[in-house]
Amino acid sequence: MSLRQAAMTVREHAYVPYSRYKVGAALRTPDGEVFLGCNVENVAYPEGTCAEAGAIAAMVASGRTEIAEAYVIADAAHPVPPCGGCRQKLAEFAKSGTRITLATLDGAEQVVTVAELLPGAFSAAHMDRT
Ligand code: THU
Repeated sequence: MSLRQAAMTVREHAYVPYSRYKVGAALRTPDGEVFLGCNVENVAYPEGTCAEAGAIAAMVASGRTEIAEAYVIADAAHPVPPCGGCRQKLAEFAKSGTRITLATLDGAEQVVTVAELLPGAFSAAHMDRT
């Protein structure tokens, strides 16, 4: 199954009683496994989680820690960019050149790299005082 199809399918499971905005995310690891996530909202709004965070949590729970590619889809006029927090989460597990595809149900796609999503990313090297 393509990452697009996988992301579309998991998107249907999004729990979004507050925003009514369903997002699906699918990511592939270097060994070819695919992990899925959808957004899960909460009546205490800040407790909601994004689709990307769910997919990353599933990947890490499986024992894997590297994203080879990712696909994020929503029903919008234009491909929706990941939120700031998800950019940082993606950067934790992907190389700067890893491609992230942002898409709409209508078929629009925008491919961006992790470095483009999060220029000047904070990394462990920034904690090095030497
Ligand atoms: N959302 C995601 O799941 N991923 C994104 O990249 C953008 C926003 C969710 C969070 C919330 O449930 C809804 O979309 C509206 O912000």
